[in-house]
Amino acid sequence: MTLGEALAQAAKDLAANGIDDARLEAELLLRHILGLDRVALYTSLEQTVTPEQAAAFSALIQRRITREPAAYITGHKEFFGLDFQLARSVLIPRPETELLVEKAIDLAGTVFTQSCLIADVGTGCGAVAVALAVNLPHARIYATDISSAALEISSSNCLRHDVSDRVTLLQGDLLGPLPEPVHLIVANLPYVRRSELVELSPEISKFEPHLALSGGADGLRMIGRLMGQAGRNLLPSGAVLLEIAHDQGQAVCEMARRYFPDSEIGVVVDFSGLDRVVSILT
Ligand SMILES: C[S@@+](CC[C@H](N)C(=O)[O-])C[C@H]1O[C@@H](n2cnc3c(N)ncnc32)[C@H](O)[C@@H]1O
Repeated sequence: MTLGEALAQAAKDLAANGIDDARLEAELLLRHILGLDRVALYTSLEQTVTPEQAAAFSALIQRRITREPAAYITGHKEFFGLDFQLARSVLIPRPETELLVEKAIDLAGTVFTQSCLIADVGTGCGAVAVALAVNLPHARIYATDISSAALEISSSNCLRHDVSDRVTLLQGDLLGPLPEPVHLIVANLPYVRRSELVELSPEISKFEPHLALSGGADGLRMIGRLMGQAGRNLLPSGAVLLEIAHDQGQAVCEMARRYFPDSEIGVVVDFSGLDRVVSILT
């Protein structure tokens, strides 16, 4: 059997088991086994598959059929143009979260231009903190997470991208472990409503950490608690950027007005026109 034939068969098996984008997913897993980029794979499709390659590929396809996400199978995910190591102890970083990073980079480049202290709350694999550190050489970042297993992964991503000297990882509840106030707080906290957890795809509900998803009955429990702590952890004229679900803009803005009555509060929409980030400029 050639690599091309093995790929076609795997894509068929994935599609038959209800996996979207079956061809792309099969390609990703085959490339992972062969250590090839896309172009190299396409120029190798006529090669014969060795028995070892066939067995390894079949094992990964079987894992994907159980609905395990490809990012956990390969142990990698790209975010903001950077490659991140992943494990099942951390949420897979989503493309939507890149908007949070873009807004933070905008603020740091226009308002906090001299020095910039940032807190990334609920850092997970460190995607937001590392992307900010790589793109903002003048920034120092505290990245917190309640999960020690998540901090092990973020630590290795900081090393991988050579930002360990500017990203300090701290274990604890929200802003609790911060040693000093900061200019900017960014957070992609768990915001899924309890009743909606059961509606998530098996890739999410069976494999991603519950701790990274559940935002309590209304989805806003963690965001509300963070707002309660934010005032005393911000430097004068500081800012807060919060990722939200598309239907939480109004509720989170109302909450923000209660905690920060004199601040400029707004919602940033994503490429699909959906509410995605709430910004609070104090
Ligand atoms: C939605 S994930 C976001 C991960 C990462 N920032 C990203 O955008 O890919 C939320 C993270 O918040 C962490 N978390 C949950 N409760 C927390 C708490 N009370 N204090 C700090 N972190 C918490 C979870 O462990 C998880 O890593």
